[in-house]
Amino acid sequence: MKFGHFDDDRREYVIERPDTPLPWINFLGNQAFFGLISNTAGGYSFYRDARLRRLTRYRYNNAPLDSGGRYIYLRDDDSSKYQDEPAYWSTSWQPTRHQLDEYQCRHGMGYTIIRSKVAGIESQTRHFIPLGENLEIWELTLTNHREQTANLSVFSAIEFCLWDALDDATNFQRNYSIGEVEVEDGVIYHKTEYRERRDHFAYLACSETLAGFDTQREAFLGHYNGWDSPSAVQAGQMSNSIASGWQPVGTQHIKVALRAGEQKKIVFILGYHENPKDDKFDPPGSQTINKRTVKPIIARYLKPDEVEAAFQALRAYWDKLLDKFQVNTPDPHTNRMVNIWNAYQVMVTFNFSRSASYFESGIGRGMGFRDSNQDLLGFVHLVPDWARARILDLAATQLPDGGAYHQYQPLTKRGNNDVGSNFNDDPLWLVLSVSAYLKETGDWSILNEPVPYDNTPGTEQPLYDHLQRSIQFTLDRIGPHGLPLIGRADWNDCLNLNCFSDTPGQSFQTTTNKEGKVAESVFIAGLFILAATEMAGIATQIKHPQEANTFTSAAQEMEKTVWEAGWDGAWFRRAYDNFSNPIGSKECEEGQIFIEPQGMCVMAGLGIEDGRAELALDSVFNRLTTPHGIVLHQPAFTCYYLHLGEISSYPPGYKENAGIFCHTNPWIMIAETKIGRGDQAHDHYLRINPSARENISEIHRCEPYVYSQMIAGRDAPKFGEAKNSWLTGTAAWNYVAITQWILGIRPTFEGLQVAPVIPSAWKRFEVQRTYRGIRYKIHVVRTGPGNKTLLEVEGKTLEGTTISFPPAGTKEVSVIVKIGGD
Ligand code: GLC
Ligand code: GLC
Repeated sequence: MKFGHFDDDRREYVIERPDTPLPWINFLGNQAFFGLISNTAGGYSFYRDARLRRLTRYRYNNAPLDSGGRYIYLRDDDSSKYQDEPAYWSTSWQPTRHQLDEYQCRHGMGYTIIRSKVAGIESQTRHFIPLGENLEIWELTLTNHREQTANLSVFSAIEFCLWDALDDATNFQRNYSIGEVEVEDGVIYHKTEYRERRDHFAYLACSETLAGFDTQREAFLGHYNGWDSPSAVQAGQMSNSIASGWQPVGTQHIKVALRAGEQKKIVFILGYHENPKDDKFDPPGSQTINKRTVKPIIARYLKPDEVEAAFQALRAYWDKLLDKFQVNTPDPHTNRMVNIWNAYQVMVTFNFSRSASYFESGIGRGMGFRDSNQDLLGFVHLVPDWARARILDLAATQLPDGGAYHQYQPLTKRGNNDVGSNFNDDPLWLVLSVSAYLKETGDWSILNEPVPYDNTPGTEQPLYDHLQRSIQFTLDRIGPHGLPLIGRADWNDCLNLNCFSDTPGQSFQTTTNKEGKVAESVFIAGLFILAATEMAGIATQIKHPQEANTFTSAAQEMEKTVWEAGWDGAWFRRAYDNFSNPIGSKECEEGQIFIEPQGMCVMAGLGIEDGRAELALDSVFNRLTTPHGIVLHQPAFTCYYLHLGEISSYPPGYKENAGIFCHTNPWIMIAETKIGRGDQAHDHYLRINPSARENISEIHRCEPYVYSQMIAGRDAPKFGEAKNSWLTGTAAWNYVAITQWILGIRPTFEGLQVAPVIPSAWKRFEVQRTYRGIRYKIHVVRTGPGNKTLLEVEGKTLEGTTISFPPAGTKEVSVIVKIGGD
């Protein structure tokens, strides 16, 4: 069952009814000011940091689930004439949930448009954040389809958050006394704590003259009413309240008379503004906000033609970004995800890491070291400069021993001490992201950038030194079998082999009571081989052949160890526990086979020549693959095991306990391409492709236009149900799997490689890819079975599959690829 449809021409998903199984959201903004917006206008806005600069209040895990938003109410001031119609309703359905005659929500690239119609009154609200601005526009267009004049009241409503979202939800003895606002020329300014150390404020402005406003929540809602029945809306009358403590809100009242057929635009702006520290009050010495600096911005964006121009600029921006990689294959789900939604989601994960979504509260985790490095893999071609800056930020949180803070706060860029380090895979991901950046851009200068350790001035070393220490970090932590020690956990945060936690409430991520000298990870071994091989490539390019040899030998040495201690006969083992017993082995009763090492070891090149890779991938297919994707392991853990930690804390089939943790599925897709099985690779791709799951939205339940972190596995009662949409490494890895390995268009140190491993039924596909400023127009045709490729570049037959860099000044390169046959 579907709740909407894709409009690929406009790059939108169109939701056709408001009561989707879960709120289906979109993200606004991509530089400093951000908003989360659901299909019923729920969500919140913030400046840079979802915890520390939250502008509006949102209540997670409430009933109804989506509570708090940017709401517009309409009131029919002649309602006595239309007895059977509601006197007032919400244009986005929530929060009043009155029946709408028509409803449609269009989520697009950085904007959301919600349209509805009740009793002949149509409203359409376009929400977006203009490029480079710290404000969110809601442009409301009202149309009167009745035969007579409609007298309407329009109400805008938001609830201000007192900046620090955690404090806002906990510290009521203080919060109930500190709320302050100012209202001037119809603009509501939220200035809690401006009197002391804040130089910033929020505001809500409107293009129309107000009939009234309220800024004290109780005055607007009434003593015991909720957002579904504000007494001011019911009465059609505001009380011009000025908040003093309690809950400051921004609500405005506009009266509109619309003749039959008449249309009217009203613009609302929700903004954030910073003043110079020494010029924050006007007049100086007063406690009144200096508004001179913000007024020109407000005046500009209250003009409908400026709004339209800003919207067109946003569209053009996304056209240009997405144009960097466009594909046309026989499969619509592939096309849609690669050309539109997967690339868009990768931008969102780049911006937010795991901080703010409808599953991440914005007050928990900051940026993850491992997460952000992986997000970069799918993002780097979109805005390479931002990727560069991010790499340097990440590396600056690295510790002198090569380890890394697991997370850091985006506003301060400091590592989070409460989580700390010792996730032993973390530093290796930095090697992969830097290598991807180098292959994409050829900007070798980044390796010489001085970057501090632990953000300590004076400790700066070239980025290259950070990469060397990342590799050394693994080599310094080798266990009894010669495999890397796991530390707190590896990629699987919940495989906590040194934790042994028996106390409720203890954090599995940070509590450790074993020294950690025994438990080892085969997964880290695979990742190490991959990273060391990348390092060898980098060292060769910068002409350090001896170092390249050292990295290669380290990789070979580790490979030997994996075959000795990490191979189980038909698949790779997962780990060794604190008693040196294998995990992910046929010897185990539960958790016999895990997906992660199969993907990682084959990606690192293991077993490709001698058939063992094929054996491992067949085991994955036979034991782990379901119609909804590949589960993490089987059999699921049926009870809590002290020596395994959080993984066994989840009920079977959920999350890391045998859920379909989508992030890992693309590793198997890539591995399948490594052994030349395009049908299998694309089959795995389609099982979790959100668009391909659109028809089962009542089972999947999350948005059909983005990947979710997890789909419940076959052991769960809700098999096939997705959770934790948007902020997941799944986005970047799927993008890499489909574009670089299945379609086979891959940046390398030597040029663009074209080596598709596609389904046997595909007769052709075309790609346009901008790479280092040059447009590659690639036409692939199948001339027979198999993956053998023959490239013709600008009419000339090429040896091999890598197109070396064309002479300076080249704008376009045309490539014809014959695949299969002879
Ligand atoms: C979450 C974390 C990620 C981790 C994964 C598996 O997605 O953000 O860092 O690798 O879970 O535990
Ligand atoms: C929990 C989650 C896991 C995530 C981790 C991040 O353990 O289950 O998915 O990676 O928290 O800290």
